[in-house]
Amino acid sequence: MFRGKTAIITGGSSGLGKELAKRLIGKGADLALVARDRDKLESAIEEIAPANSLDRRIETYSCDVRDAASVEQAAKAICDRQGPPDILINSAGILREGYFETVPTDTFEEVMDTNFYGSLYWIQSVLPHFKAKGDGCIVNISSMSGILGVFGYAAYCASKHALNGLTSSLRLELAPQNIRLHLVCPPEFGSPMVDELNTYRTKENRVLAQTLPVMTVEKVADDTIRGMERGTYLIVPGTYTRMFERLNRFLPSLTRMVSDRVIRQNYKGVSGRG
Ligand SMILES: NC(=O)c1ccc[n+]([C@@H]2O[C@H](COP(=O)([O-])OP(=O)(O)OC[C@H]3O[C@@H](n4cnc5c(N)ncnc54)[C@H](OP(=O)(O)O)[C@@H]3O)[C@@H](O)[C@H]2O)c1
Repeated sequence: MFRGKTAIITGGSSGLGKELAKRLIGKGADLALVARDRDKLESAIEEIAPANSLDRRIETYSCDVRDAASVEQAAKAICDRQGPPDILINSAGILREGYFETVPTDTFEEVMDTNFYGSLYWIQSVLPHFKAKGDGCIVNISSMSGILGVFGYAAYCASKHALNGLTSSLRLELAPQNIRLHLVCPPEFGSPMVDELNTYRTKENRVLAQTLPVMTVEKVADDTIRGMERGTYLIVPGTYTRMFERLNRFLPSLTRMVSDRVIRQNYKGVSGRG
């Protein structure tokens, strides 16, 4: 399924993007890794190299996904150097947490620009190539925060809910052209993003997000690849998270009740007095 295919992975220098890169190259895909920081991209190549047993090609492209022109330029460079892509994985993302009243509008824009528009621009850039081939695969890395509301994640949840809506519409619209969409909704997993979050997050956010077990990035990557291989549209990594997602689908009032209870028991608020 992946052998001889060219996969673009945004956010490929870190966390889940890098872990997916190791698995795809091990299965015979060529990789185009996209992120802003060139040094991190170079270190990622070294880390991924041991998984490259089939001696596939791996290239890096520095690009800011918030900037449509930068995406267009990187997409052109990929086509020139590696040929038209077959797979796009949108994993580039940022997280900002805090009490809603303390989060400036700029932060909402930054998070939307990265998590939503960054994915949109990349889809727009690869689509003509996928249509020309009559084949393609788009994997949008969203989050359980794209399904549920989470305390402190107003900006992040808004961006991931928007991404879920886009993915759901495109699934319908592009299926007749043999372009497959996958929506990946992991719970919290260990990565540099979460290491940073842990330095400043609110107590309410930590307790609520961790009512679902924190996963390893390796397990999230394994479940994502398995979902792609099986043609699963909604990929929810982890057995417990899958059960929770189903419960939420059929009994949303129950999962709301659980969240409300967790927050009531742990509420501090902006003033810290509860
Ligand atoms: N970790 C979790 O608990 C968790 C849970 C659910 C969903 N997710 C989602 O999973 C995805 C990966 O998260 P992660 O935890 O692996 O994060 P991570 O380790 O922080 O990696 C984020 C990647 O995105 C890139 N990136 C960020 N802003 C960018 C921009 N403007 N342009 C280009 N690249 C950019 C970063 O590279 P540069 O900074 O060099 O650009 C980095 O490669 C994200 O979409 C995240 O929302 C994460």
